[in-house]
Amino acid sequence: MDDDFDLTADDTYPRADFAHANGSGSADPDEDDMDDSDDPARPLSTIPPAIISKFAISSSRRRPNILVTGTPGTGKSTTAELLALATNAQHIDVGRWVKERSLHDGWDEKWAAYVVDEDRVVDELEDKLAQGGVVVDYHGCDFFPERWFDLVVVLRTDNGTLYRRLEERNYPAHKLTENTTAEIMQVCLEEARGAYARSALCELRSDSSEDLDRNVEALAAWCEEWCEAAKEAQGGEDEE
Ligand SMILES: Nc1ncnc2c1ncn2[C@@H]1O[C@H](COP(=O)(O)OP(=O)(O)OP(=O)(O)O)[C@@H](O)[C@H]1O
Ligand SMILES: [Mg+2]
Repeated sequence: MDDDFDLTADDTYPRADFAHANGSGSADPDEDDMDDSDDPARPLSTIPPAIISKFAISSSRRRPNILVTGTPGTGKSTTAELLALATNAQHIDVGRWVKERSLHDGWDEKWAAYVVDEDRVVDELEDKLAQGGVVVDYHGCDFFPERWFDLVVVLRTDNGTLYRRLEERNYPAHKLTENTTAEIMQVCLEEARGAYARSALCELRSDSSEDLDRNVEALAAWCEEWCEAAKEAQGGEDEE
């Protein structure tokens, strides 16, 4: 393993080759019927209305779970951490989680990354997500059950900016190329589109610190709205 890598970088990847992820099918084969509230006219660059999905109602979640995904370096962990702080949620950085708990099948020398054991990751996360109030960040998304997430945010970054961010991590050339190509080919966005209902999906720019602040503020406001709507939909007192 190269000791010069930036330790904050996510050096894990799903078993399915990241660059070839095609996003086909739902995240959960048993839950292929997408939400009826999908509005094909809504641009993905806008955050969807805070509508309570059938999954949230059936699980009686009072707080939303949010997935922040995107190409490595787009700012998932930075955004997720700030959002969790702003909303008093728990942040789970799946890449870090995988390393801390050894939820992988070893180190891949060629890609300088751990090969994630997706089944074990899902098993370990299930209980954490059941209550709601979790912000998960990971560059893969189609192996998580669709029912977990009330909002899926795909961060997008200008390619020159992304290249410079990854270069600062001392990524080897092939990893720089792989990741910047994946961003151009919008691999993460396509994966998310294949796995989650459009009504739960948005694509936000993450090029600058202004974008970061704006995204965190807007997502925190969305969380607040969601909690209000959940209270109304599910009735009764707060569970906390
Ligand atoms: N919107 C932004 N504007 C400017 N810099 C940002 C922005 N978002 C993140 N950064 C910076 O870019 C770098 C990468 O961010 P971060 O580690 O959050 O990315 P990541 O998507 O979690 O990457 P990985 O998938 O490798 O974990 C960090 O140095 C962070 O400070
Ligand atoms: Mg990260």
